[in-house]
Amino acid sequence: MKNNRWYPLYHVAAPVGWINDPNGFCTYKGQYHLFYQYHPYSAQWGPMHWGHVVSDDLAHWKHLPIALRPDESYDRNGCFSGSAIEHDGKLYLMYTGNVALPNECGFQDQALAVSDDGIRFTKYEGNPILPAPTSDSINGSDFRDPKVWKKDGKFYCVIGSKNVEGTHGQVLLYESDDLKDWRFKNISARAEGNEGNMWECPNFCEVDGQDVLIMSPMGIERKENKFVNAVDSGYMIGKLDYYTGIFNHGEFDLLDYGSDFYAPQVTQTEDGRCIMIGWLAMWFADMPEQQDGWAGTMTVPRELHIRNGKLVSVPAKELESLREGKVSHKNLNISVPTQLDGVKGVTGELIAEIDTANSDNFSIALRADGDEKTLLTYDKETATFSLNRENSGAGPKDGREVVLTPEEILKLRIYLDRSSIEVFVNDGAAVLTSRIYPAETSQDIIFIPTGDKLTLKQVTFYKLGQGIAQ
Ligand code: FRU
Repeated sequence: MKNNRWYPLYHVAAPVGWINDPNGFCTYKGQYHLFYQYHPYSAQWGPMHWGHVVSDDLAHWKHLPIALRPDESYDRNGCFSGSAIEHDGKLYLMYTGNVALPNECGFQDQALAVSDDGIRFTKYEGNPILPAPTSDSINGSDFRDPKVWKKDGKFYCVIGSKNVEGTHGQVLLYESDDLKDWRFKNISARAEGNEGNMWECPNFCEVDGQDVLIMSPMGIERKENKFVNAVDSGYMIGKLDYYTGIFNHGEFDLLDYGSDFYAPQVTQTEDGRCIMIGWLAMWFADMPEQQDGWAGTMTVPRELHIRNGKLVSVPAKELESLREGKVSHKNLNISVPTQLDGVKGVTGELIAEIDTANSDNFSIALRADGDEKTLLTYDKETATFSLNRENSGAGPKDGREVVLTPEEILKLRIYLDRSSIEVFVNDGAAVLTSRIYPAETSQDIIFIPTGDKLTLKQVTFYKLGQGIAQ
């Protein structure tokens, strides 16, 4: 029996083994499919397979058999990240074949697999469909993570890469009529200055009528409270010129301020929303769940929007179907640390609205018991919001912070699961996503005024039901 002390109740995770990037996030025959980088034979990264889950509603997921295994010469050291698309009633997976060579730099190529039922996949006999490029502007050893989409009857895909010198990340655009023959269009965007030396997992999507490039750069240096993790994901808003293949864009910015968010992938739903799921873990981080035979989870699905020129994300509305019990408190003025009736738990959704004009600085302790706690803190003077996991239990001990645009009412929407916390601040203006590893007995939620007044406009707590097999 697996020890479930940190195993998620409703976030996607593998039944056993290691996962990293979300892959192939798509809709097919009326269902959501999500694949993931998977090493089923241990809780460590290893030769990558594609694990697979399916959902009718983005909230309740079912495990399906492994979709891809590294069993061909062109993917022998791993079926790396990629994407999925429906075409002529079939589901196509486009992914990276990773090939390592003894004593020299290996290479990466792109491959295709196809399914009639969305469950069993056959690799295309013409693989690899895109061999590693040999060019004086593209580094063929890092050429991975194709994300495919369709526009005006044509297929396009972006692939992550870097320049030959290995100093700057870049994203390559290709086009195709049939998903099999691909033509190189252009280097769509490239890193400038401190924007990373390799761009992994690029995504192109349309959000509120604008084009957005989301990618996961390696090698960005920390800039104040941004890009603090080993690797971080970011985005640029702009316009893709489909004729030249060039993406004209604004500034590069960070997607999530927590310790554990990487390699997100998006899909466009049938009703036109752009939904993103990320890997809720971090390369090189301590993952105590490995003792229990598994490692890594996915974030909740998040709906993307553009507000004031920035990309914001809010929990997908379908997550409301996980809600079970509801407790609500309104208009409370507190001057000492306070727990509210019915507001506690290992898992759950907490919504809090704080009247900052009538409050001093404050903290909220979650998953708390005695000295153990995960602490959210707001400092009014600097409008700094922080998530601290120095006393969260097992696992990494650190803090992350973000400077907010001050609002009279500070709104928080928090998803707690057995080993994660996702904090959506001010309707997604900032998001902090981190793993935490408290004891199962640490369940208290405590509102802590730092001065003598804290005005809670409202606090609502929902128990959440099971979303993934245990
Ligand atoms: C990103 C990544 C991808 C690669 C995969 C391998 O986390 O490095 O670029 O395809 O993980 O598992």
